[in-house]
Amino acid sequence: MKNYPTAHINAKPEDFAKTVLMPGDPLRSEYIAKNMLDGAVLVNNVRGINGYTGTYKGKRVSVMASGMGMPSMGIYSYELFNFFDVDNIIRVGTAGALDKSLKLCDIVLAMGASTNSSYASQFCLNGTFSAIASYKLLRDAHDEIIQKNIPCCIGNVLSSDYFYNADTTANSKWIEMGIKCIEMEAAALYMNAARANKNALAILTISDHIITGEQTTSHERQTAFTDMMEIALETAIKQE
Ligand code: HPA
Repeated sequence: MKNYPTAHINAKPEDFAKTVLMPGDPLRSEYIAKNMLDGAVLVNNVRGINGYTGTYKGKRVSVMASGMGMPSMGIYSYELFNFFDVDNIIRVGTAGALDKSLKLCDIVLAMGASTNSSYASQFCLNGTFSAIASYKLLRDAHDEIIQKNIPCCIGNVLSSDYFYNADTTANSKWIEMGIKCIEMEAAALYMNAARANKNALAILTISDHIITGEQTTSHERQTAFTDMMEIALETAIKQE
């Protein structure tokens, strides 16, 4: 059965490279395509979820936004993995720091993504699923980080359904479990990758500190974003 185009992605499988970078924000997707890829062509813009395919150092790479939150990431990553023959998705996003040792603009590789969402309930598992990154993507990204001599933290993050959480005690409990930072998409991405037997990684930069209240300036965010994107692109071209 032909499963494309879908209601969300108006493209054909061959329009996408095997590796797709996914920022949350469609404007970031456009920025990456126009400034970091060669010959980028728009392959999707349903609902303004800009998707592009171009080349980086001569290899095909795609970039498409995920939107915010796990339902949105869930739709796009499911369709890319299952209907558009994509093998690897690298989320490139921001996160709020929970770990005191993290500084603004630090990079976190999400080795695991814990969650307060019910996303895993669809799989009807008799227990708790550990949503983890692809080891190869994680290792390749880490190798690149070592080569660039950029500080980074590798650990468990929280993919939260709440940006504004009425339970003000929630974060401290996650901190006690060693969670490094909060974001809103990685767990759904990792679960979809597991279920489709594909590969996923979330590379995050710390945009704000939940404990100290510090926030990055837009200039700091841009510089940190460029480092993160270079790491993601170098990781992308190391894949098959
Ligand atoms: N919460 C959730 N997601 C985020 C945050 C946050 O504080 N900062 C950046 N992404």
